[in-house]
Amino acid sequence: MDADLVRWRRALHEMPEPGFAELETSAYVREVLEGWGLRVQTRAKTGLVAEIAGQGSGPVIALRADMDGLPLTEESGEPFASRHPGMMHACGHDVHMAVLLGAARELLRQADFPGRIRLLFQPSEEGPESGARALIDEGALQGVDGILGLHVWSHEPAGTVAMRDGAMMASADTFDIMVEGRGGHGSEPHTARDAILIASQIVVNLQQITSRRLTPLEPCVVSVGRIEAGSASNIIAESARLSGTVRTFSAAAQETVEREMIRIAAATAAMQRARADVHYHRGVPAVINDRPVIEAWRAALAGIVKTSEPLPAMASEDYSLYLNQVPGAFVFLGGKPEGEVFPHHSPHFRISEECLPVGVETLVRGARALLTHPEVLRRAR
Ligand code: NI
Repeated sequence: MDADLVRWRRALHEMPEPGFAELETSAYVREVLEGWGLRVQTRAKTGLVAEIAGQGSGPVIALRADMDGLPLTEESGEPFASRHPGMMHACGHDVHMAVLLGAARELLRQADFPGRIRLLFQPSEEGPESGARALIDEGALQGVDGILGLHVWSHEPAGTVAMRDGAMMASADTFDIMVEGRGGHGSEPHTARDAILIASQIVVNLQQITSRRLTPLEPCVVSVGRIEAGSASNIIAESARLSGTVRTFSAAAQETVEREMIRIAAATAAMQRARADVHYHRGVPAVINDRPVIEAWRAALAGIVKTSEPLPAMASEDYSLYLNQVPGAFVFLGGKPEGEVFPHHSPHFRISEECLPVGVETLVRGARALLTHPEVLRRAR
């Protein structure tokens, strides 16, 4: 095993920090890059951008890693667990940074490619504010012809890469529904308009959007994750608030969900002579991979890295914002650990370090394929 990859990964794992506050992380990555003589620019508060020049003119290919940790107390039992109380790299972004450093090292060692590589170390993937948006707003994609990225995946076998063209990860919208009824005495429900009853009916009725308003061939999730209402057991609540998330893969599905949610909430409330207002917030779009890029990337890995074709994930990634601007793709790096597998964002989350050199190989081969075959990018859009 490559000692540098493990050392970087473990050092970064020990210092998880919140989005746009990745100060120690940013300083660590900068030091490694500057140690190789690279000129490093700070963008989007704690993000880093650096370029590796090849031989002669050619496309500019961006490689992206995200940097932020999550507000969780680590219980993985790893000897290199977080030393920042209440913060943890529970999504594997430490792995992404180590892999991107490894890829940069390989590309510097053999800079015989045409064009340039742009390294994007992105803050705040988990939000609430998108670090990808901030990097794009600060010009990090200017002059970029294509982009590649990966996410370690604890459910896929270590040492494999899961890739597909088209839909890879879902969009993520959020909503709040405010129900306005009429409060009253718990013993006299007929004199009130029970906001809790209405909110409950709305929760049930919303499930008909996915089962009855969208084609079964269109993946979609509508989940209410939070209900706030009421103050005492013998008082009928005057108002209620529901909050939730919507995951889709197409703009058409997104529009249907929003329209139907407004209609269903209003109609359900009207049935009880009350009202419900929906505040629907569009979040990050779906990650949609370009077919020519995936085909070229898969071909570049053939015989070297075992690839599979996964189902799309209903999770989301602000990487989609890059793909809205330039052609490219995003893949899952299998990192299933020995023993019990815990989901991403779990305090027990662990990853097999076997994935580290595979991740490096994946990025380096993908980038080289696009640098030497820029016509792939022209075919993509
Ligand atoms: Ni993540």
